[in-house]
Amino acid sequence: MTTNFTAPIARDATDTRVTFPTSFRWGAATAAYQIEGAVAEDGRTPSIWDTFSHTAGKVVGGDNGDAACDHYHRMPSDVGLMARLGLRSYRFSVSWSRLQAGGRGRLNPAGLDFYRRLLDELGARGIEPWLTLYHWDLPQELEDAGGWPNRDTAYRFADFADLVHGALGDQVTHWTTMNEPWCSAFLGYGDGHHAPGRTDRHDALAAAHHLMLGHGLAIEAMRAQQRPGVQLGVTLNLYAVSPATGSAPDAEAARRIDGLMNRWFLDPILRGGYPEDVRADLRTVDDFGFIADGDARVIAAPIDFLGVNYYTRHVVAAPAGGEWSLPTPSSWPGSEAVRFLDRGLPVTEMNWEIDPDGLTEVLTRVHRDYTDLPLYVTENGAACDDRIEADGTVQDPDRISYVDAHLRACHRAVQAGVPLRGYFAWSLMDNFEWAWGYGKRFGMIYVDYPTQRRITKASASWYADVIARNGLASVDETESLK
Ligand code: FCB
Repeated sequence: MTTNFTAPIARDATDTRVTFPTSFRWGAATAAYQIEGAVAEDGRTPSIWDTFSHTAGKVVGGDNGDAACDHYHRMPSDVGLMARLGLRSYRFSVSWSRLQAGGRGRLNPAGLDFYRRLLDELGARGIEPWLTLYHWDLPQELEDAGGWPNRDTAYRFADFADLVHGALGDQVTHWTTMNEPWCSAFLGYGDGHHAPGRTDRHDALAAAHHLMLGHGLAIEAMRAQQRPGVQLGVTLNLYAVSPATGSAPDAEAARRIDGLMNRWFLDPILRGGYPEDVRADLRTVDDFGFIADGDARVIAAPIDFLGVNYYTRHVVAAPAGGEWSLPTPSSWPGSEAVRFLDRGLPVTEMNWEIDPDGLTEVLTRVHRDYTDLPLYVTENGAACDDRIEADGTVQDPDRISYVDAHLRACHRAVQAGVPLRGYFAWSLMDNFEWAWGYGKRFGMIYVDYPTQRRITKASASWYADVIARNGLASVDETESLK
């Protein structure tokens, strides 16, 4: 059996049976560029991730999404696997450049046909689709025209959202505008670790603003279509953030990182404006000339649910020197010198510390401080060093304990009164993990890339049981299943 984490996470002997509210939505998530492949077929044009992954040195091992999981050609059997897991919901994203060549003009009928067929398959299996309009794959032509730092990109996105909603709004009830705008802005334009790989903090801040503006404009455009029963939202990646010590400078470090990571997105979307303290931190960095009159109102367009992606906690300390800001490319504009510490906890293959309590904390905080809206965990999961055993199975007990612990954390939030309505495992199947390539496996289904064979991991069978019982077994029950 493979031991994936630096130390196993012990199941707590007091872990009892846990049942979620009826109608809790159980799902799994993927994203277009990470699974589809077929990058040059049926009129699809390149996205920034095609360009970036084909640029030497950007992705580990020189991997790219050209073939990925070949989901574009294997979609019906992949939906069959979802049905075998008993998934009630499936979160996926559409590829902008597959649906609208170059990011402008009419929709591509061949691209639409693919997503219509996917929706038909899901419908036939009784699996509810959750459609994300933008999971990081900007059409390259729009990047060439300035990318997200260019205000016009927000209008292009709203047009795209309007067209796709018009075409598919009869088959999809849950629509998410953006996935993790923090990553698009601060990894894409700040530290350059993600496409398009630019490193300019002014661009990063302008990109963040225009991503949120695009979100708000898209919500307005879709809302105006007045489709009955449609639910509109956005997915943010939120972190628990803690100071390393009780000192005032470390508290200041935590305030700054929480500000950039969480509040820079939560406040404009749910409260109608940027947090003043973070604007003050950024005073010497940018004059915010990109904010136009009326933007705050658009960005705060009412939504119906909030998606939360959660993986870990940041523990931060004040800079070793006196300055908070350094002139180096970073995803933390104005706070580049903040130190991120390891606590020596077990980590996943991403080297992310495992901190389920942070998920309870994040969900409780969003509900307490921001909104009564329904919340969904739209991503959560672990990369493990999965291998095919001699008997052909893939045993991933560490992923099971990770998800078990995080579902217990979700349940604690529910018990505390948080309107958490569903959970999506990241990911349905192993896929192209962005700058890490194919080396990091997050799936509950193993993908043998040379043959594209799918193997159901032990975690997938376990998750099917969770879905079927609408909750978690106690430790005793789990032992007796072995
Ligand atoms: C999230 C992304 C998703 C995947 C997971 C591991 O930030 O939304 O595509 O890469 O991390």
